Amino acid sequence: MNPPPADLAIQIRKMQLEDLDRVVEIDHASFSLPWPRSSFVFELKENEASRCWVAEVVDPNGQPTLAGLLVSWLIVDELHIATIATAAEYRRHHIGRRLMVHGLSEAMQEGAVVSFLEVRRSNIAAQALYTRLGYQEDAIRPRYYQDNNEDAILMSLQPINPALFDLRG
Ligand SMILES: CC(C)(COP(=O)(O)OP(=O)(O)OC[C@H]1O[C@@H](n2cnc3c(N)ncnc32)[C@H](O)[C@@H]1OP(=O)(O)O)[C@@H](O)C(=O)NCCC(=O)NCCS
Repeated sequence: MNPPPADLAIQIRKMQLEDLDRVVEIDHASFSLPWPRSSFVFELKENEASRCWVAEVVDPNGQPTLAGLLVSWLIVDELHIATIATAAEYRRHHIGRRLMVHGLSEAMQEGAVVSFLEVRRSNIAAQALYTRLGYQEDAIRPRYYQDNNEDAILMSLQPINPALFDLRG
């Protein structure tokens, strides 16, 4: 597939059940332990804490292509990042950042003041994304991931800093 143009038009909207074929496709291509489709259905239909977003790349004809996803959980004043992925062919175009900033911004408006996540020790790309947004490493959870016994790094953003919204572009 050809690389996407540098100046992509990106829009963020709520995830819908109709998105799940593409969402599951991206998730399965992105993770060694992907979520089953039923987990996304649960998030959309049953989990009241869930805040699910997708990013679309819009071509010059106005045609959208789903290129990224974010699932987060708003628990009182905490936003937990459950999963985030950008389709491989659209990475490094600030889609992940846009999803994170949008999710954090919307959660702030609902009362979130802190955010938590965990990331594999080897996942340098994701750690760089989170660090750019102000997340800091809090602790290591040894051998957390079941497929390869990899450590999890626990990170937090506290407080959620509105200055990160400058990164929206
Ligand atoms: C992590 C992931 C979501 C990032 O998505 P993305 O849309 O490519 O990220 P962005 O373009 O928004 O990157 C934002 C910033 O993060 C950092 N970053 C992202 N990917 C990076 C990489 N491969 N190497 C180094 N830094 C990276 C950079 O600081 C980047 O800003 P810059 O391009 O201006 O330097 C994507 O790589 C992915 O889907 N990976 C597989 C799934 C995954 O690991 N999810 C996270 C689980 S914790």
